[in-house]
Amino acid sequence: MKENTLAMMKNSFKIFIVAVGTFVTIGSLSSCYHSKRNPGYEYAPNMYRALAPNPDQPTASFKDGKAAQNPVDGTIPMGWNKFHYENSLAGYEAASKELVNPFANDTAALTEGKNLYTNFCTQCHGMQGKGDGAIVLAGKFPPPPAYATGTSSRGGAMKDLTDGKIFHTITYGVNLMGSHAAQLSPAERWKIVLYVHELQKLQ
Ligand code: HEC
Repeated sequence: MKENTLAMMKNSFKIFIVAVGTFVTIGSLSSCYHSKRNPGYEYAPNMYRALAPNPDQPTASFKDGKAAQNPVDGTIPMGWNKFHYENSLAGYEAASKELVNPFANDTAALTEGKNLYTNFCTQCHGMQGKGDGAIVLAGKFPPPPAYATGTSSRGGAMKDLTDGKIFHTITYGVNLMGSHAAQLSPAERWKIVLYVHELQKLQ
């Protein structure tokens, strides 16, 4: 009885060893097997086939089959200040009616406005806004109308130009005057508007 049990145990041990050996052999052979198309066992397969769709690959997730979707209409990038008035006479008049300078006319804002005006506007408009800037005096540019005494090409006296009209002009430009939106932030433009109002009072 004892001997029988011992023989059975020996047998099952042999079967076990053969089974383990077979597994190890098949396993190592299959992991060694590779070709150009099949690199064999993949470590971290998510690195090869990411869960997120590739932006330049087709996807079934959207109706048009594109992984890279356009942002919805009217999307505004973070930190970007959209100017909601068109570059047209209607936009200019609407800005005139609705826009109010967010900056109070205090010394700090006015001083910054004056500095910016000196750097960005005087070459044409002149230090006192009389339309006698350096390039005008050099005979290379027609004089812009004086802020205090001139007449706007869009109607009305220059001295009556409102916050919105001046801001609209700096943003888009008008005729020979170019847009300054790329050089001056909205806050900087508003501070210049404060200073232009001062120049409108000079006679
Ligand atoms: C390259 C020269 C030039 C520069 C620089 C320039 N302007 Fe002008 N600006 C003009 C001319 C020319 C006009 C007249 C355009 C017209 O009405 O045909 C004008 C007109 C204006 C008007 C009157 C707009 C209206 O509604 O009639 C304002 C206000 C004004 N400029 C402000 C500024 C401010 C502020 C700056 C600086 C940020 C500036 N400009 C820079 C040439 C310039």
